[in-house]
Amino acid sequence: MKIAIIGTGYVGLVTGVCLAEIGHEVTCIDTNLEKVDQLKKGISPIYEPGLEELMEKNRAAGRLEFTNNSIIGLKDQEVIYIAVGTPQSEDGAADLTYVFNAARNIGENITRNVVVVTKSTVPIGTNAKVRQLVMSNLQDNVCAEVVSNPEFLREGSAIHDSFNGDRIVIGTDNQEAGDIVEEINKPFGLPILRTSLHSAEMIKYASNAFLATKISFINEIANLSEKTNAHIEEVAKGIGMDSRIGNKFLNAGIGYGGSCFPKDTQALVKISEDCNHDFHLLKSVITINENQKTLLVRKAKERFGTLRGMKVALLGLAFKPDTDDMREAASISVAHELVEEGAEVIGYDPIAADNAKKVLPEEVLYADQIEEAIKQADVVFILTEWKEIVEKTLILSTLFMNEPIIFDGRNCYTNEDLYNLEVEYISVGRENLSKIRENRVAAVI
Ligand code: UDX
Repeated sequence: MKIAIIGTGYVGLVTGVCLAEIGHEVTCIDTNLEKVDQLKKGISPIYEPGLEELMEKNRAAGRLEFTNNSIIGLKDQEVIYIAVGTPQSEDGAADLTYVFNAARNIGENITRNVVVVTKSTVPIGTNAKVRQLVMSNLQDNVCAEVVSNPEFLREGSAIHDSFNGDRIVIGTDNQEAGDIVEEINKPFGLPILRTSLHSAEMIKYASNAFLATKISFINEIANLSEKTNAHIEEVAKGIGMDSRIGNKFLNAGIGYGGSCFPKDTQALVKISEDCNHDFHLLKSVITINENQKTLLVRKAKERFGTLRGMKVALLGLAFKPDTDDMREAASISVAHELVEEGAEVIGYDPIAADNAKKVLPEEVLYADQIEEAIKQADVVFILTEWKEIVEKTLILSTLFMNEPIIFDGRNCYTNEDLYNLEVEYISVGRENLSKIRENRVAAVI
């Protein structure tokens, strides 16, 4: 099938590359000429494991092209995907400027009947407006139908998720358009769910809101576990074994960040407000998450009294491992609070440091190597569980720090890993190791 994709951001590029991989002829369109030039050279603008290799393979096979010219890019296409950004507006709503521009652009340039597939996350009812916009800008005597086909890809494993996801949702009120999109997606071999247009739009928001809720819930249980001497991993395992709850997304820590959960939860609250519905639960999920991001700063203040003049190494700056994405990363709130408290902050991230420099306070210093960060530090904060950080932090802290102390926001180690090491270790949702040691010593005496 001949397919055009508008937008070569994270979603558009991964979708285009994966559709080419299953045999479609794909043209990716982006207004940013510099980006298109890079893509034509095989360089991906985002760090995503496996993406460049797959891009190169499909470009070489002649199934994947890039252009900044919509007239050429949209001509003779059977299916056109909209995969542009829907950033958060000041009032929390999704900003639909790019989506509506894409719709106008489609109307002005299509030369045959098309199916417009929306990948961008858009409020319920938006796809009907997309269709209206396409139809009211037509130059030729052609027609367009719309299909909502939300993405559920995780950054860092987007290629894997494209071929191994749990489901593909195809929402439309036009049977024939839905059949075409189903046909396109069949080679992925994943379960396909057909729904109405509005239900598909809601599924995307409801999925992300539910996952965010699960994270805030387990974080609250973790905070309570600390106060009641329960152990969060045991609790998470115990509740996760109930198949009605499920064992995924129960890792307690310093909250969720990224390009989806924060933006989509805010947008769903706004959608609710617009319908005069007060979504109490989701508002609490958001507040809990904001508080959770700076948990380690509060723990450190409790431990030391003041952080003024202390050198704090922040290990892992991206919102999660295997990505260079800094959007809504906990490191941003943590760095700001530490600087306000008068601490000296040294940041380290294997991949995201360049992006971090654009968003962290200018007082933050950066280390090129994890060794360098830990050597300079009085105290270490683990914010992102990169493999390198998990493998090296413990051992390097014992080697380079006089009195090693680690605040771990991602529970990378078990208390047993640390038991025989001279490291003070403070994590999330567990009794402090020092307290356990004291209790064991007291028991022996
Ligand atoms: C998410 C959704 O998973 C995906 O389906 C959607 O399409 C886009 O948003 P992504 O933001 O890439 O994907 O990352 P994800 O792996 O879901 O993690 C999001 C955040 O939640 C990260 O900050 C992560 O550290 C945090 N998280 C995740 C937890 O704190 N605990 C968990 O148990 C899981």
